[in-house]
Amino acid sequence: MIPQQTIQEIQSKIDIIEVVGEFVRLKRRGTNYLGLCPFHNEKTPSFTVSPAKEIYKCFGCGRSGNTIGFLMEHEKYSYVEALRWLANRYGIEIVESETSPEFRQQQQTADSLYILNQFAQKFFSDQLYNAEEGTDIGLSYLKERGFNDETIKKFQLGYNPAARDSFAKAALAAQYSQDLLQKSGLIVIRDNKPADNYHGRIIFPIHNQSGKVLGFGARIIAKNDRAPKYINTPENEIYVKSRILYGSYFARHAIDRENECLLVEGYTDVISLHQAGIENVVASGGTSLTPDQLRLIKKYSNNLTIIYDGDNAGIKAALRGLDLAIEEGLNVQLVLIPDKEDPDSYVRKVGADAFKDFIKSSKKDIILFQVENSLKEAGNDSTRKAALVNQIAETIARLNKAEDFTRQQDYIHRSAELMKIDEAGLTTLVNQFIREKITKEEKKAAKTAPENRTDDATPKVNDGGKDEEALFLIFKDELNERAMVRSLIEFGNKPWDDNQTVADFVFSEMEVNGLYDLLDNKKLLQMIELFKTWYEEGLAPGPKNFLYYEDVQISQLSVDITNTQDEISPKWKEYYDGPMPTREELYKQDVLSSVNYLKLRKIRRMILENQQDLEKNPTGEELLTLLQTHQHLKELEIDLTRLTGTVILR
Ligand code: CTP
Ligand code: MN
Repeated sequence: MIPQQTIQEIQSKIDIIEVVGEFVRLKRRGTNYLGLCPFHNEKTPSFTVSPAKEIYKCFGCGRSGNTIGFLMEHEKYSYVEALRWLANRYGIEIVESETSPEFRQQQQTADSLYILNQFAQKFFSDQLYNAEEGTDIGLSYLKERGFNDETIKKFQLGYNPAARDSFAKAALAAQYSQDLLQKSGLIVIRDNKPADNYHGRIIFPIHNQSGKVLGFGARIIAKNDRAPKYINTPENEIYVKSRILYGSYFARHAIDRENECLLVEGYTDVISLHQAGIENVVASGGTSLTPDQLRLIKKYSNNLTIIYDGDNAGIKAALRGLDLAIEEGLNVQLVLIPDKEDPDSYVRKVGADAFKDFIKSSKKDIILFQVENSLKEAGNDSTRKAALVNQIAETIARLNKAEDFTRQQDYIHRSAELMKIDEAGLTTLVNQFIREKITKEEKKAAKTAPENRTDDATPKVNDGGKDEEALFLIFKDELNERAMVRSLIEFGNKPWDDNQTVADFVFSEMEVNGLYDLLDNKKLLQMIELFKTWYEEGLAPGPKNFLYYEDVQISQLSVDITNTQDEISPKWKEYYDGPMPTREELYKQDVLSSVNYLKLRKIRRMILENQQDLEKNPTGEELLTLLQTHQHLKELEIDLTRLTGTVILR
């Protein structure tokens, strides 16, 4: 946990031009800065950064956000990782709160492993290029396979000499502890002495998304039946196989640009394709995809193209991760490489252009591929065919998200055609699976219900079912709610009177009059609650706390509400002839207007409820009370209307 205090300190230092400028070449244009968008291919710049608003926007592809959002999008950092990057950039120390000693210990080990791996990578690269054994054996092997210097250097390939402990000696001389060396997998104990685990092998460093070395794959050079072809780093604090996608650091921007991620099996496949100019490619390391890897891919693109060997094992491996991928909402295509080749050997054989053409023309939707493949296997066996129909229906049912509805229909249509079965029947079956799934999920949700209640907090401006007038009213209410939150986050810390701040005033009005429930947009309500928490912690929160808040919906909303164009109501001009006052000068009226409007909504709601009670044919005394209440409420309504009418109302 990073303390809010530190987050605030980081926020106050952020210079969006400086941060974005590290990744994009920016040129000044008036008050803004302009550059080539890093998120899509373009020749004329449409990527704009506003230092005043601390946001960026691309008018070409529409991506926009704040500085933290930029780091998250561009570097694929999590919110916390982005904060850490910024803290590091601005020399702010993060004193973690609520961390256990074990956690801190683990962090320290992780940091040490990164440093050791970097040392090792340099050592192996140096051996490859600058030692006789390295060039004679390692480099010549890589050259023979067709890798050029640029590629070898880009992927930081290396060589570990054949002597039993050349790396061990160097690392121990550099003061790395034996414990750490063993943990990293670089060193093993042989005959009671530290020895190189990868001796006599080509070294493939494995990088995380930001380019740090997590571990290594070490390939044997000469064919040897007794030794494994690859030795990989054992699981440790930073090398977690199920979360690693080889090549993701080098591929991330290309995947973003192409909006497609190619997935191959091996290190050499990734490297060869890169050298051929196909850069949006990562490798799974020869095992079937894990949920973590799928999520990682999804960060970059929804379109996954699996390129595997055309043999049986390749097909099986591709199909194994299928259901998971579909559930994650990925659009999966499959390409099988023919003739016992793998992508590395195939691209070398046919060349880059032919390879690209081949991928494009032989891509097959993986669900339909599964149908065809299983049909072939089933032959004339009707039991197996029936099982297949069930299996496909279940797979299609997994696509059950609103945005996937048309895709689902399409799959039903095409699968029914392939299997030569009735489309309506398949639809029924799919729906059955969907219902089953929903029931299961509901049961699960019921168990966790109390904690989940606040999840339903999406803003609701557009309600399709309402007629236009009602929609306008909702919209007007929403505008007022926004004005209210805007006043609070911009002026909350200013004095209201001698005894209280604006925030004190707003919170007590809300509390006393029970106004919290009235806010329809739960995100706005959440903003008020957040402000309250921070305010009560003595943090003097402001717009930046929201601009850089973790939840992007809130961040976006805060940008929307604080950057509204018409700063002052046009109505003002009807009453006032002098120089236009600023929002700053009018903040009290602004706050009062918002609070009163909310009160007015409350009164109107009470009037409505009262009227409903009146319609229930109440008897004597009840009727009288209701009528008196009505009278009283109407008076309040008139008072409030007058008040909100005389102050500035947007
Ligand atoms: N692999 C592994 N351990 C092995 C064999 C394979 O970790 N003993 C992983 C490696 O990540 C390897 C991938 O599975 O890159 C694919 O294996 P394979 O096709 O055998 O290797 P290639 O990458 O094609 O290597 P090469 O072209 O040098 O044979
Ligand atoms: Mn290969």
